[in-house]
Amino acid sequence: MNKKAFIFDLDGVIVDTAKYHFLAWQKIASQLGIEFTPEHNEHLKGVSRVRSLDIILELGKIKATQEDKNKWLIQKNEDYLSYLVDMDQSEILPGVFHILEFIKEKNQLIALGSASKNARPILEKTGILPLFDAIVDGNDVSNAKPDPEVFLRAARLLNTSNENSIVFEDSVAGIQAANTANMVSVGIGDKKILHEAKYNFSDFTFMDVSFIEALCLPNPSKGGAL
Ligand code: BG6
Ligand code: MG
Repeated sequence: MNKKAFIFDLDGVIVDTAKYHFLAWQKIASQLGIEFTPEHNEHLKGVSRVRSLDIILELGKIKATQEDKNKWLIQKNEDYLSYLVDMDQSEILPGVFHILEFIKEKNQLIALGSASKNARPILEKTGILPLFDAIVDGNDVSNAKPDPEVFLRAARLLNTSNENSIVFEDSVAGIQAANTANMVSVGIGDKKILHEAKYNFSDFTFMDVSFIEALCLPNPSKGGAL
């Protein structure tokens, strides 16, 4: 039987770092006098650092020099990293580890598909790096989600077809990327926001292993196994 590729986004799916990205961007925005709300932040989820800054500047109708942009990008990342200094296993979101372990038990493949350039140290700090058969992050791709490049690369590294790949995502851009790639999209978070996902769970504590088991069957998206 062909193995399935279970591709996980990182921020907001495996670890609760989405809140740290938000706090760090909010600091930059308030410095620039731009109102930046959690609703605005939804548009930044899954989006690269550079593009995120552009979105914030567009929001405040601010034109900036490349020099200023570089300065804010460095400041944002330094601030973000300061939240990660003491990071350990306790930052893994509830239910995730259980699902990762179950996928391993079932002898299926696990990949990371993240826009973050900080992904590897986070996987190391939380102790789950060895569970991953492939890692594709912001250092490996040139096109940010909703472009499917990050997931296509992950599937290719695992030698798996797109149809046999399942993507777990908390961002609209990530769900769109998975759908464009013809992969099975699983939204983790608010169903109203992630309505384009094929399946949806508020978080991993709502996901029973039987869901993963059904996805391991051949063609779950076509056979209606779920
Ligand atoms: C994504 C986050 O995973 O990574 C975005 O959802 C973030 O909020 C992007 O901007 C890039 O992350 P980093 O760590 O490279 O700044
Ligand atoms: Mg995310």
